[in-house]
Amino acid sequence: MTKHNPSVSSATLQLAENPKAEVIEAINDLKKQKNALIMAHYYQHPDIQDVADMVGDSLQMAQFATQTQADILVVAGVCFMAETAKILNPLRKVLLPDLQAGCSLADSCPADQFKAFIEAHPQSPVVTYINCSAEIKAMSDIVCTSSNAVKIINAIHSNEPIIFAPDVNLGKYLMKQTGRHLLLWNGSCLVHENFSIDKILDLHRKYPEARFIAHPESQPHILRLATYIGSTKGMIDFVKQHHANEFIVATEAGILHQMQKEVPHKTLLPAPVFEENACACSECPYMKMNTLEKLFQCLQCETPEITINEAVRIKAKRALDRMLELS
Ligand code: 13P
Ligand code: SF4
Repeated sequence: MTKHNPSVSSATLQLAENPKAEVIEAINDLKKQKNALIMAHYYQHPDIQDVADMVGDSLQMAQFATQTQADILVVAGVCFMAETAKILNPLRKVLLPDLQAGCSLADSCPADQFKAFIEAHPQSPVVTYINCSAEIKAMSDIVCTSSNAVKIINAIHSNEPIIFAPDVNLGKYLMKQTGRHLLLWNGSCLVHENFSIDKILDLHRKYPEARFIAHPESQPHILRLATYIGSTKGMIDFVKQHHANEFIVATEAGILHQMQKEVPHKTLLPAPVFEENACACSECPYMKMNTLEKLFQCLQCETPEITINEAVRIKAKRALDRMLELS
């Protein structure tokens, strides 16, 4: 599916030892030389968000990928995001700085098992969350993201239960919001399953005026506490528009970088997780595999490049195009 040239040039090794500013300058030079753009998700390290040409949620990234004319598109995100970009715009060279940057949701849904699940419910429409592989998208009638999922489920005209995969938490949230009967795949995001309700309530006691906002990949008992539930972009917009000055934010902590830029005067508190870590917040190990050095190396060597079997790509594109038309 993907090809990877692990060779590292001497220039790369030399630059990796240089200060951050030099790496950033080198990345910007390479972007100009090669007519390349960097597209980053809100969960990326702040330095990567700042060097990117766009920062957005999964839907904004898909829309940007569809429209870009750049020769090279570097996806500072995870594998399913880079695959989505290639599916939508196959004439671009799509690069992902680290091919190991996967996703626990995508991993939970192997193509052979999903095929058997669909075959067991032949009349059911198939809706998949964008956090899945190209093969899973190719088996779907339509794809959705967290920002358009309610709209897409509501747009489906069928008396049959709808297959929804791979996120069970988003699926339960959608059943509640739409009143539709969904047949759920049992996948989950390791980041959003990790919030501690006791620690969140402790934090809320310290900041009683804070509003609690959450991503719908979180578990139902966490979502029950939320004043607002939405995609990463939706959460940023909510914090901008709401009159409150303090927010407890239940999603990957990388979002706080753009959010704080939008509301510099407001207090943003990452929702705490079970494990003790330096920031007591939730970080995606896959998203955080990307580094400035890997971005530089990827732009310089033009690898790892994403390639997708054409038959799979065409079917997956149909499901993604239907989503984009409805968004
Ligand atoms: P959105 O940015 O589309 O809300 O998705 C969140 C996420 O978990 C991406 O991996
Ligand atoms: Fe996947 Fe969760 Fe990481 Fe997003 S945050 S890439 S859903 S594991």
